[in-house]
Amino acid sequence: MSTDLSVKNARLIKLQTVLDGFDGILSIAEIQRDIPFEVRRVYYIYNLIKHKDVMRGKHAHKKLEQMLFCVNGSCVIELDDGENKQEILLNSPNVGIYVGTKLWHTMKNFQNNCILLVLASDVYKESDYIRDYEEFVKYIKTHA
Ligand code: TYD
Repeated sequence: MSTDLSVKNARLIKLQTVLDGFDGILSIAEIQRDIPFEVRRVYYIYNLIKHKDVMRGKHAHKKLEQMLFCVNGSCVIELDDGENKQEILLNSPNVGIYVGTKLWHTMKNFQNNCILLVLASDVYKESDYIRDYEEFVKYIKTHA
């Protein structure tokens, strides 16, 4: 199930879960149904207990698409498409955010041993990053 957000190129994705009684919950992310790209890289961010005030991200991507899941704890994802901004609290392992291209994103307020799992549409390429906000604003104006 997916829900549009108030910024462009982003959606909230709710995964199907299987409740196994006392044996826990199984959450399933399938390509096409839940993930709108072929996954070419998986990475995760953790060990943030001593660094609650840390801010990660603060960049946008030209071509990369990503899905963010907070599989433990919680964090806030701030998205900015150059016109609108939205903050989303990720605090459920079965709810993720699709972060498409050309979205300035910041991850912050990491709580309760947060583990942020990211599925990405491509391998790491520094050339795909826009790390300067002014450059981001210029880029989206010329790449509508
Ligand atoms: P970065 O994407 O800026 O981290 P965040 O958005 O979480 O703040 O990456 C931090 C550093 O790690 C940077 O030097 C690039 C490197 N890195 C890789 O080498 N491969 C990867 O897949 C990622 C995500 C980062």
